[in-house]
Amino acid sequence: MNMVYEKLQKCYQSVRQKTEFQPQIALVLGSGLGDYADTIQIEKVISYHDIEGFPVSTVQGHKGRFVFGYVGNVPVVIMQGRVHYYEGYSMQDVVLPIRLMKLLGAEVLFLTNAAGGICEQFHPGDFMMITDQISSFVPSPLIGNNIEELGPRFPDMSEIYDRVLCNLIRESAKDVGIDLKEGTYIQLTGPDFESPAEIKMCKIIGGSAVGMSTACEAVAANHMGMKICGISCISNLAAGISKQPLSHKDVQEMADKAAPVFKKLVTDIILRMGNKLKKG
Ligand code: HPA
Repeated sequence: MNMVYEKLQKCYQSVRQKTEFQPQIALVLGSGLGDYADTIQIEKVISYHDIEGFPVSTVQGHKGRFVFGYVGNVPVVIMQGRVHYYEGYSMQDVVLPIRLMKLLGAEVLFLTNAAGGICEQFHPGDFMMITDQISSFVPSPLIGNNIEELGPRFPDMSEIYDRVLCNLIRESAKDVGIDLKEGTYIQLTGPDFESPAEIKMCKIIGGSAVGMSTACEAVAANHMGMKICGISCISNLAAGISKQPLSHKDVQEMADKAAPVFKKLVTDIILRMGNKLKKG
Protein backbone atom coordinates (compact mmCIF):
# COMPACT_ATOMS: atom_id res chain seq x y z
CA MET A 1 0.00 0.00 0.00
CA ASN A 2 1.05 3.62 -0.60
CA MET A 3 2.86 4.82 2.57
CA VAL A 4 0.92 8.07 2.80
CA TYR A 5 -2.36 6.15 2.56
CA GLU A 6 -1.16 3.57 5.07
CA LYS A 7 -0.42 6.32 7.60
CA LEU A 8 -3.82 7.88 6.93
CA GLN A 9 -5.55 4.54 7.52
CA LYS A 10 -3.67 4.07 10.80
CA CYS A 11 -4.75 7.53 11.97
CA TYR A 12 -8.32 6.74 10.89
CA GLN A 13 -8.35 3.52 12.90
CA SER A 14 -6.83 5.29 15.88
CA VAL A 15 -9.63 7.90 15.82
CA ARG A 16 -12.32 5.26 15.23
CA GLN A 17 -11.16 3.41 18.34
CA LYS A 18 -11.97 6.57 20.29
CA THR A 19 -15.20 7.70 18.65
CA GLU A 20 -17.90 6.56 16.21
CA PHE A 21 -18.95 10.17 15.60
CA GLN A 22 -19.94 10.91 11.98
CA PRO A 23 -19.33 14.60 11.12
CA GLN A 24 -21.04 16.22 8.15
CA ILE A 25 -18.95 19.37 8.10
CA ALA A 26 -15.24 19.76 8.79
CA LEU A 27 -14.18 23.16 10.09
CA VAL A 28 -10.58 24.34 10.28
CA LEU A 29 -10.03 27.17 12.73
CA GLY A 30 -7.47 29.83 11.89
CA SER A 31 -5.79 32.35 14.17
CA GLY A 32 -8.19 34.09 16.51
CA LEU A 33 -10.97 31.56 16.04
CA GLY A 34 -9.29 28.89 18.16
CA ASP A 35 -11.73 28.95 21.03
CA TYR A 36 -14.78 28.67 18.76
CA ALA A 37 -14.62 24.93 19.37
CA ASP A 38 -15.30 25.53 23.07
CA THR A 39 -18.65 27.14 22.24
CA ILE A 40 -20.23 24.13 20.52
CA GLN A 41 -21.99 21.14 22.05
CA ILE A 42 -18.94 18.93 22.45
CA GLU A 43 -19.29 15.15 22.12
CA LYS A 44 -15.65 14.12 22.01
CA VAL A 45 -12.21 15.75 22.00
CA ILE A 46 -9.16 13.96 20.62
CA SER A 47 -5.74 15.52 21.03
CA TYR A 48 -3.49 15.19 17.99
CA HIS A 49 -0.88 13.73 20.35
CA ASP A 50 -3.16 10.75 20.94
CA ILE A 51 -3.38 9.83 17.26
CA GLU A 52 -0.42 7.70 16.30
CA GLY A 53 1.70 9.25 13.54
CA PHE A 54 -0.37 12.44 13.42
CA PRO A 55 1.49 15.72 12.72
CA VAL A 56 1.36 18.02 15.74
CA SER A 57 1.54 21.82 15.39
CA THR A 58 4.36 23.74 17.02
CA VAL A 59 2.99 27.28 16.53
CA GLN A 60 2.25 29.28 19.64
CA GLY A 61 -1.43 30.04 20.04
CA HIS A 62 -2.42 26.95 18.02
CA LYS A 63 -3.99 24.17 20.04
CA GLY A 64 -3.79 20.73 18.54
CA ARG A 65 -6.97 18.73 18.76
CA PHE A 66 -10.08 17.53 16.99
CA VAL A 67 -13.34 18.57 18.58
CA PHE A 68 -16.39 16.52 17.58
CA GLY A 69 -19.83 17.88 18.34
CA TYR A 70 -22.88 19.77 17.19
CA VAL A 71 -23.50 23.32 16.01
CA GLY A 72 -27.28 23.41 16.43
CA ASN A 73 -28.03 19.91 15.24
CA VAL A 74 -25.32 19.84 12.60
CA PRO A 75 -22.61 17.26 13.33
CA VAL A 76 -19.18 18.80 12.88
CA VAL A 77 -15.53 18.00 13.38
CA ILE A 78 -13.38 20.99 14.20
CA MET A 79 -9.63 21.23 13.82
CA GLN A 80 -8.50 23.40 16.69
CA GLY A 81 -5.04 24.11 15.33
CA ARG A 82 -3.64 23.09 11.97
CA VAL A 83 -0.13 22.17 10.90
CA HIS A 84 1.76 24.43 8.52
CA TYR A 85 4.26 23.60 5.82
CA TYR A 86 6.78 26.04 7.37
CA GLU A 87 6.93 23.87 10.47
CA GLY A 88 8.90 21.39 8.42
CA TYR A 89 6.26 18.78 7.69
CA SER A 90 5.86 17.28 4.25
CA MET A 91 2.84 18.52 2.33
CA GLN A 92 1.37 15.02 2.65
CA ASP A 93 1.51 15.41 6.44
CA VAL A 94 0.11 18.94 6.31
CA VAL A 95 -3.04 17.71 4.55
CA LEU A 96 -3.38 14.41 6.43
CA PRO A 97 -5.90 15.87 8.90
CA ILE A 98 -8.07 17.10 6.03
CA ARG A 99 -8.05 13.67 4.41
CA LEU A 100 -8.80 12.09 7.75
CA MET A 101 -11.86 14.29 8.32
CA LYS A 102 -13.19 13.21 4.91
CA LEU A 103 -12.70 9.54 5.81
CA LEU A 104 -14.57 10.19 9.06
CA GLY A 105 -17.59 11.32 7.02
CA ALA A 106 -17.27 15.06 6.37
CA GLU A 107 -18.66 16.09 2.97
CA VAL A 108 -17.98 19.79 3.40
CA LEU A 109 -14.71 21.51 4.30
CA PHE A 110 -14.97 25.00 5.79
CA LEU A 111 -11.54 26.65 5.93
CA THR A 112 -10.72 29.75 7.96
CA ASN A 113 -7.48 31.66 8.42
CA ALA A 114 -5.92 35.00 9.16
CA ALA A 115 -4.42 36.65 6.10
CA GLY A 116 -2.66 39.78 4.98
CA GLY A 117 -4.76 42.07 2.81
CA ILE A 118 -3.32 42.87 -0.62
CA CYS A 119 -6.38 44.44 -2.18
CA GLU A 120 -6.35 48.24 -1.60
CA GLN A 121 -10.00 48.22 -0.53
CA PHE A 122 -9.38 45.84 2.39
CA HIS A 123 -8.97 46.96 5.99
CA PRO A 124 -7.73 45.03 9.01
CA GLY A 125 -10.72 43.32 10.60
CA ASP A 126 -12.46 42.70 7.23
CA PHE A 127 -13.61 39.23 6.22
CA MET A 128 -12.86 37.92 2.75
CA MET A 129 -14.70 34.96 1.30
CA ILE A 130 -12.23 32.96 -0.75
CA THR A 131 -13.52 32.53 -4.28
CA ASP A 132 -10.33 31.11 -5.80
CA GLN A 133 -6.73 30.52 -4.88
CA ILE A 134 -3.11 30.47 -6.00
CA SER A 135 -1.16 27.56 -4.53
CA SER A 136 1.65 27.58 -7.10
CA PHE A 137 4.27 28.77 -4.61
CA VAL A 138 3.96 25.70 -2.40
CA PRO A 139 4.39 22.08 -3.51
CA SER A 140 1.16 20.26 -4.34
CA PRO A 141 0.11 17.78 -1.64
CA LEU A 142 -0.75 15.43 -4.52
CA ILE A 143 2.88 14.99 -5.63
CA GLY A 144 3.97 11.36 -5.44
CA ASN A 145 2.09 8.21 -6.31
CA ASN A 146 -1.56 9.02 -6.66
CA ILE A 147 -3.77 7.54 -3.95
CA GLU A 148 -6.47 6.10 -6.17
CA GLU A 149 -8.70 5.43 -3.16
CA LEU A 150 -8.87 9.19 -2.55
CA GLY A 151 -9.16 10.68 -6.02
CA PRO A 152 -7.85 10.92 -9.59
CA ARG A 153 -4.26 11.58 -10.71
CA PHE A 154 -5.11 14.84 -12.46
CA PRO A 155 -7.99 16.42 -10.58
CA ASP A 156 -9.85 19.39 -12.03
CA MET A 157 -9.39 22.59 -10.00
CA SER A 158 -11.63 24.92 -12.02
CA GLU A 159 -14.10 25.39 -9.16
CA ILE A 160 -12.33 24.65 -5.89
CA TYR A 161 -14.66 26.85 -3.83
CA ASP A 162 -18.20 25.58 -4.21
CA ARG A 163 -20.53 28.07 -5.87
CA VAL A 164 -23.57 27.03 -3.85
CA LEU A 165 -21.68 27.36 -0.57
CA CYS A 166 -20.34 30.75 -1.65
CA ASN A 167 -23.90 31.97 -2.26
CA LEU A 168 -24.94 30.66 1.11
CA ILE A 169 -22.07 32.56 2.76
CA ARG A 170 -23.06 35.77 0.95
CA GLU A 171 -26.62 35.42 2.30
CA SER A 172 -25.35 34.65 5.76
CA ALA A 173 -23.02 37.67 5.84
CA LYS A 174 -25.88 39.92 4.74
CA ASP A 175 -28.11 38.64 7.55
CA VAL A 176 -25.35 38.90 10.16
CA GLY A 177 -24.64 42.45 8.94
CA ILE A 178 -21.12 41.93 7.63
CA ASP A 179 -19.72 43.76 4.62
CA LEU A 180 -18.17 40.59 3.21
CA LYS A 181 -15.26 41.04 0.83
CA GLU A 182 -14.34 38.44 -1.78
CA GLY A 183 -11.13 37.47 -3.45
CA THR A 184 -8.31 35.13 -4.31
CA TYR A 185 -6.20 33.68 -1.52
CA ILE A 186 -2.55 33.14 -2.27
CA GLN A 187 -0.49 30.74 -0.20
CA LEU A 188 3.23 31.27 0.31
CA THR A 189 5.40 29.01 2.43
CA GLY A 190 6.25 31.43 5.24
CA PRO A 191 7.32 31.53 8.00
CA ASP A 192 8.84 34.88 7.04
CA PHE A 193 6.32 37.51 6.14
CA GLU A 194 6.61 38.75 2.57
CA SER A 195 8.74 41.59 1.29
CA PRO A 196 6.95 44.55 -0.34
CA ALA A 197 8.25 43.36 -3.75
CA GLU A 198 6.75 39.94 -3.17
CA ILE A 199 3.41 41.48 -2.26
CA LYS A 200 3.60 43.57 -5.42
CA MET A 201 4.10 40.34 -7.36
CA CYS A 202 1.17 38.70 -5.53
CA LYS A 203 -1.01 41.63 -6.49
CA ILE A 204 0.04 41.57 -10.15
CA ILE A 205 -0.75 37.87 -10.47
CA GLY A 206 -4.19 38.30 -8.96
CA GLY A 207 -3.91 37.68 -5.22
CA SER A 208 -6.28 39.56 -2.91
CA ALA A 209 -5.00 38.20 0.40
CA VAL A 210 -1.91 36.27 1.41
CA GLY A 211 -1.26 33.60 4.00
CA MET A 212 0.68 30.49 4.92
CA SER A 213 -2.01 27.79 4.90
CA THR A 214 -5.37 26.82 3.41
CA ALA A 215 -4.74 26.51 -0.35
CA CYS A 216 -2.89 23.19 -0.01
CA GLU A 217 -5.71 21.89 2.19
CA ALA A 218 -8.25 22.92 -0.43
CA VAL A 219 -6.27 21.10 -3.13
CA ALA A 220 -6.27 17.86 -1.11
CA ALA A 221 -9.96 18.22 -0.26
CA ASN A 222 -10.92 18.94 -3.87
CA HIS A 223 -8.95 15.87 -4.96
CA MET A 224 -11.27 13.84 -2.70
CA GLY A 225 -14.41 15.53 -4.01
CA MET A 226 -15.25 17.50 -0.88
CA LYS A 227 -17.33 20.67 -1.17
CA ILE A 228 -15.11 23.53 -0.02
CA CYS A 229 -15.58 27.06 1.23
CA GLY A 230 -13.28 29.44 3.06
CA ILE A 231 -13.09 32.79 4.79
CA SER A 232 -10.01 34.85 5.61
CA CYS A 233 -9.95 37.31 8.44
CA ILE A 234 -7.84 40.19 7.15
CA SER A 235 -5.66 40.61 10.21
CA ASN A 236 -3.28 43.15 8.67
CA LEU A 237 -2.42 44.88 5.45
CA ALA A 238 0.35 43.00 3.66
CA ALA A 239 3.94 44.27 3.58
CA GLY A 240 4.43 47.50 1.65
CA ILE A 241 0.68 48.17 1.63
CA SER A 242 0.95 48.73 5.35
CA LYS A 243 3.63 51.22 6.35
CA GLN A 244 4.25 49.30 9.57
CA PRO A 245 6.48 46.27 10.06
CA LEU A 246 4.52 43.02 10.49
CA SER A 247 4.52 40.91 13.61
CA HIS A 248 2.86 37.64 14.58
CA LYS A 249 1.67 39.32 17.76
CA ASP A 250 -0.17 42.07 15.84
CA VAL A 251 -1.69 39.51 13.48
CA GLN A 252 -2.89 37.48 16.47
CA GLU A 253 -4.27 40.55 18.26
CA MET A 254 -6.29 41.72 15.26
CA ALA A 255 -7.56 38.20 14.62
CA ASP A 256 -8.62 37.99 18.29
CA LYS A 257 -10.39 41.32 18.01
CA ALA A 258 -12.35 40.20 14.94
CA ALA A 259 -13.16 36.81 16.48
CA PRO A 260 -16.57 37.54 18.08
CA VAL A 261 -18.10 38.63 14.76
CA PHE A 262 -16.29 35.85 12.91
CA LYS A 263 -17.73 33.25 15.30
CA LYS A 264 -21.24 34.57 14.79
CA LEU A 265 -20.77 34.34 11.02
CA VAL A 266 -19.30 30.82 11.19
CA THR A 267 -22.20 29.56 13.31
CA ASP A 268 -24.78 31.08 10.99
CA ILE A 269 -23.07 29.58 7.95
CA ILE A 270 -22.86 26.10 9.49
CA LEU A 271 -26.56 26.14 10.43
CA ARG A 272 -27.46 27.13 6.87
CA MET A 273 -25.19 24.45 5.43
CA GLY A 274 -26.78 21.87 7.72
CA ASN A 275 -30.21 22.80 6.34
CA LYS A 276 -28.92 22.62 2.79
CA LEU A 277 -27.30 19.20 3.30
CA LYS A 278 -30.53 17.88 4.84
CA LYS A 279 -32.52 19.04 1.80
CA GLY A 280 -29.86 17.57 -0.52
N1 HPA B 1 1.38 37.40 5.25
C1 HPA B 1 1.37 36.07 5.34
N2 HPA B 1 0.60 35.41 6.19
C2 HPA B 1 -0.21 36.12 6.99
C3 HPA B 1 -0.24 37.53 6.95
C4 HPA B 1 0.61 38.21 6.03
O1 HPA B 1 0.62 39.43 5.93
N3 HPA B 1 -1.14 37.92 7.87
C5 HPA B 1 -1.64 36.81 8.44
N4 HPA B 1 -1.07 35.71 7.92
